[in-house]
Amino acid sequence: MTLAETTLPTAAPQVRQTKMLIDGQWRDSVSGKTFETINPATKQVIAEVAEGDEKDIDLAVKAARKAFETKSPWRRMDARDRGRLLTRLADLVEENIEELAALETLDNGKPIRDAMAADLPLVIDCFRYYAGWADKDHGKTIPIRGNNFCYTRHEPVGVAGQIIPWNFPLLMAAWKWAPALATGCTVVMKPAEQTPLTCLRLGELAQEAGFPDGVINIVPGFGESAGAPLVRHGGVDKIAFTGEHRTAQIIMREAAETLKRLTFELGGKSPNVVFADADLDAAVEGAYFGLFFNQGQCCCAGSRLFVEEAAHDEFVEKLTAKAKDRKVGDPFDPETEQGPQVDEAQYDKILSYITKGKDEGAQLLAGGDAGDDSGYFVQPTIFDGVDDDMSIARDEIFGPVMSILKFKDTDEVIRRGNDTFYGLAAAVWSRDIGKAHRLAAELRAGTVWVNCYDVFDAAAPFGGFKKSGQGRELGEYGLRNYTEIKTVTVNLDG
Ligand code: NAI
Ligand code: MG
Repeated sequence: MTLAETTLPTAAPQVRQTKMLIDGQWRDSVSGKTFETINPATKQVIAEVAEGDEKDIDLAVKAARKAFETKSPWRRMDARDRGRLLTRLADLVEENIEELAALETLDNGKPIRDAMAADLPLVIDCFRYYAGWADKDHGKTIPIRGNNFCYTRHEPVGVAGQIIPWNFPLLMAAWKWAPALATGCTVVMKPAEQTPLTCLRLGELAQEAGFPDGVINIVPGFGESAGAPLVRHGGVDKIAFTGEHRTAQIIMREAAETLKRLTFELGGKSPNVVFADADLDAAVEGAYFGLFFNQGQCCCAGSRLFVEEAAHDEFVEKLTAKAKDRKVGDPFDPETEQGPQVDEAQYDKILSYITKGKDEGAQLLAGGDAGDDSGYFVQPTIFDGVDDDMSIARDEIFGPVMSILKFKDTDEVIRRGNDTFYGLAAAVWSRDIGKAHRLAAELRAGTVWVNCYDVFDAAAPFGGFKKSGQGRELGEYGLRNYTEIKTVTVNLDG
């Protein structure tokens, strides 16, 4: 089946897997506890999922360590065959694309057309891309002094503990598993408590692909009771985390004892800068997509929209019309552009920021309230006349709330764009190539998009400056997080 032959699923799929995956076995938690995962479009319980804690994490880490031993089938496997397993997993995801997309929509609330057009194709690409790296990530020979032969080996870092969020559940699993498996690490993953289902299904597909037992372990559960023991565990060599910067600060402290390697992909308050000389219609599209995509639940959302004064009125009028037209509702309806927020906590947080925006004197142009209360729906909201020090201009809202700020000149917008502790992404819209490149160089962010937004590719690194992260995911750089460099020096005398 090719992607072009797929159809949009219109109903929830059967939930096949709710247990945890440890050492190739699907099992209940040691405590016997389960937790509910909710459909955010209806607030109804979808399923009870095995709830892991310290004991399950310990079993999973032991399984991952065993699978990492030098004589294990995984460590003896040729690098090229590791790549073949990743290719096989990509094929299986593609064969099951409709089921996986529907399961993602059910558990997360994202529109089915987004799951099919964005999440799933990116997942498949990510596994295929890193499949190709498995036998290409190699060391060097180095001309050192003396009669010595010196070479480096790229070795897997070991057991990788991976903790992911709920906004792109499958895609975050792919970003974490693919480079780890390509380099020969073993994995213990803790999916987000809001959205465990697709990760568990992916675990089944990984077994079907033929990954040896213990190479991939999945322990669903909560942050403090399952995530924290994974961070503290002495058998884990590295933690890869995506989520809030405050959680990363806790993880960094907790990991100090064992001096684990850490990589973080955190939040943002990304400046999206529209100059008056831009193709304004394209910029309107980009600003709209860059903020409202995925219900605004994107780490790289263009949530500070800087518009040059001369273009402001026309730009804002077009953008407001689009936001008012946005179709919010049942995520399984193929016409739906915006589903519910993922859960009650996020919904409450977003509504509280809408209230702050009104109270702090921003001008409400669209939305400004909750939507249909059968689910966690929020109206697409636009605030104009936003000042740099308002909370809606400073804090990550992670919802469909846009803040528009006016600017007059280039130096000013660079200074204001950088005036945040975040540094994940930025965008520039301009026909002036010199100006665009100047902003690309001077904005302190891990990704800068020019005349586009949210262009992602498995080959292009992604990650944050400042409090938006540490290290990079995707691309060749993404391999570094999972690789130890070993120097071998051989004396050739005699
Ligand atoms: P979070 O950072 O608490 O959760 C992300 C993951 O970390 C989940 O799997 C969670 O169970 C785990 N976790 C939580 N506490 C932990 C701990 N002490 N030790 C180990 N693991 C732990 O984020 P949350 O509460 O879901 O969302 C709060 C805010 O964070 C959002 O409103 C948004 O602003 C931001 N966020 C950013 C994301 C990004 O893509 N950068 C993704 C999700 C949230
Ligand atoms: Mg859920």
